[in-house]
Amino acid sequence: MEKRILKEDTDRVDGILKVTGQAKYFAEYELPGLTYGVLVTSTITKGKITGLDTRAAENAPGVIAVVSHLNKPSAAAYEQEGGPQMKIFYTDRIFYNGQPIAIVVANTFERATYAASLVKATYAKEEFNTDFAKALKDPKAKKLQGQADYKRGIENAYKTAEVKLEERYFLPIETHNPMELHGIIADWRPNNQLTVYAKTQGVKATQGTIANVFKIPIENIRVNSEFVGGGFGMALRTWPLEIATVMASKLIGKPVKVVITRMQMFTMVGNRPAAIQTIGLGADKNGKLTGITHRAYGETSTYENFTEGVVNMAKFMYQCDNVNTSYAIVPVDLGVPIWMRGPGEATGAFALESAIDEMAHALDMDPLDFRIKNDPETDQQKNKPFSSKNIKEAYKIGAEKIGWSNRKNKPGSLVEGSWQTGYGVSVGVFNANRGKASVKGVLKADGSLLLQSATSDIGPGTGTGMTLIANKLMKIPVNKITFELGDSSLPPAPSQGGSATLSTVGSAVNDVCVALKSAIAELAANSNMDATANFVEVLKKNNLPSIEVTKESQSGKEKDNYSMYSFSIHFVQVKVHALTGVVKVSKIVSVGDSGTIVSPKTARSQMLGGAVGGIGMALTEESIVDHRYGRYINNNFADYHVPVNADVPEIDVNFINKPDPYINPMGAKGMGEIALIGFSAAVANAVFNATGKRIRTLPITPDKVL
Ligand code: MOS
Repeated sequence: MEKRILKEDTDRVDGILKVTGQAKYFAEYELPGLTYGVLVTSTITKGKITGLDTRAAENAPGVIAVVSHLNKPSAAAYEQEGGPQMKIFYTDRIFYNGQPIAIVVANTFERATYAASLVKATYAKEEFNTDFAKALKDPKAKKLQGQADYKRGIENAYKTAEVKLEERYFLPIETHNPMELHGIIADWRPNNQLTVYAKTQGVKATQGTIANVFKIPIENIRVNSEFVGGGFGMALRTWPLEIATVMASKLIGKPVKVVITRMQMFTMVGNRPAAIQTIGLGADKNGKLTGITHRAYGETSTYENFTEGVVNMAKFMYQCDNVNTSYAIVPVDLGVPIWMRGPGEATGAFALESAIDEMAHALDMDPLDFRIKNDPETDQQKNKPFSSKNIKEAYKIGAEKIGWSNRKNKPGSLVEGSWQTGYGVSVGVFNANRGKASVKGVLKADGSLLLQSATSDIGPGTGTGMTLIANKLMKIPVNKITFELGDSSLPPAPSQGGSATLSTVGSAVNDVCVALKSAIAELAANSNMDATANFVEVLKKNNLPSIEVTKESQSGKEKDNYSMYSFSIHFVQVKVHALTGVVKVSKIVSVGDSGTIVSPKTARSQMLGGAVGGIGMALTEESIVDHRYGRYINNNFADYHVPVNADVPEIDVNFINKPDPYINPMGAKGMGEIALIGFSAAVANAVFNATGKRIRTLPITPDKVL
């Protein structure tokens, strides 16, 4: 099998800055007169604040102000994208435990921390429920439709199939735990000019939200976020704690910095919501799927609804004439969830891809053969052809590399001493999109190219990808190209989310390069130069220090004609220790089918990170709430386990690397989400293959295996 890692590998353009500590993250900006804010949080789960005694805090050394609902500065109505949300300091209502109720600002972080401990709140408590499973069972508890019901063919056709199964799958709350803590520096000046240093996946979104809340012109606000130490979806919105910081700065007329604690990361910046899903599958004896039913319930908050694409995959991933889905959300008294890598689809894929494996087992078929047998030629949901899809080739590459031929269809067949070996496979899929973005390009007579766009880089290597697109088109060396991002004053671009940045912003980079090339060709022709003349010569001959163009890419019309998705296949080998129930992922082969790979090195890193996140989702990650108090009890890195090096085997990353003809000029589809989606099911399927034990509740901890 040919090696799929591409040869011409380019290092991350900002790699040196990152590993030498020169890259500046939001919390590292030192502003004159900087002050420090610490949030005081609710110690009850539901009710009303009846009193807030801030006198001791205000009199503590170094304290500048305590801001709360009692003295908040004017921020206008809160209407922000993503719907209504908890209006911080504009209400005395408590919606969840850990909700910010005040911010203490002092001249040092330590003094602010101490003073925050002196704020005394009294409450009128109310009955609450933080248990999603309990709410689901309670006929009186609210259940809201999260997505329109979907049906093609016969509803619940699985029930009358020759071979059928119906199973329930449980996913706990998971919390994004990027290395970088969340926070913001806000510097509100008397003339209503505001500068912020933020941790955000969208500088324009942060700018827009603050403008909206405080009713000041967008031009008055500048948002900087050049480097982000991991986002995973949690930095896709501007959180109440950020609004609180801006309020504090406005009130005291000084810059205020807030960096929340690891504990507060569990309550202030969202999480992957818990989910309970039922999958019904029906097939004929030959292994053709005849019915798929996917019913899902997701957790949400009482003050804001959150929905995601949990049941999307069931509608098109497999050839089946009878499919129906439903998705409802159930409010509990916890903070509102948010997207977390592979949002929705990662949750849905765990259930669907586990069930597919269960059906293959019921049919006594190899799960890979079963998937191939039910692989659709076209998208039955949209009734359109796929723009590109190379799943069968991906199955083949992955199967060969993991050593699928060593797998025995009978579970528990591979035993060596106390260790049982198993193999599992799963598919991941996510929408491939192209949105609208602007990029400015400045081509200079010194031989360099400057590209600018208000996009973000939460880690995938946006600058590297954009540089390589330009490098390929302009034949300018990588070290002569600079891509500037993370500043709201640059040409507008959407937030980095949904695996669409390379496609969206890259399309504008493409258009800028094409325009610059034709401008140079025109200049060359006008000055009687050869059409192939170097742009430096052309600019010099015309006495031009530089030329510049700005282009806006459009969202793709091709979506009308084609169904566009990125796909991934995850193969894992696990070793399960029979006496202790410990599961070790011992081998991983991931195959990405996401069009052209623009930046091989950073693309590979995306897949590595997704697999590591997938191991966490499968084996260890779970945010546990003590429902008696409505509080998280494992809100730290000692108790919330993310994979460490010892948990991660060698990860063999492969790409199909065939251009998608329709998505964008690069032929490149997104990769961020598919690196994780499906992975947890591959592990669960491998655990079943190793032990014969089917685990439908994540994470797969030893107690469940035994
Ligand atoms: Mo991603 S969950 O769209 O940051």
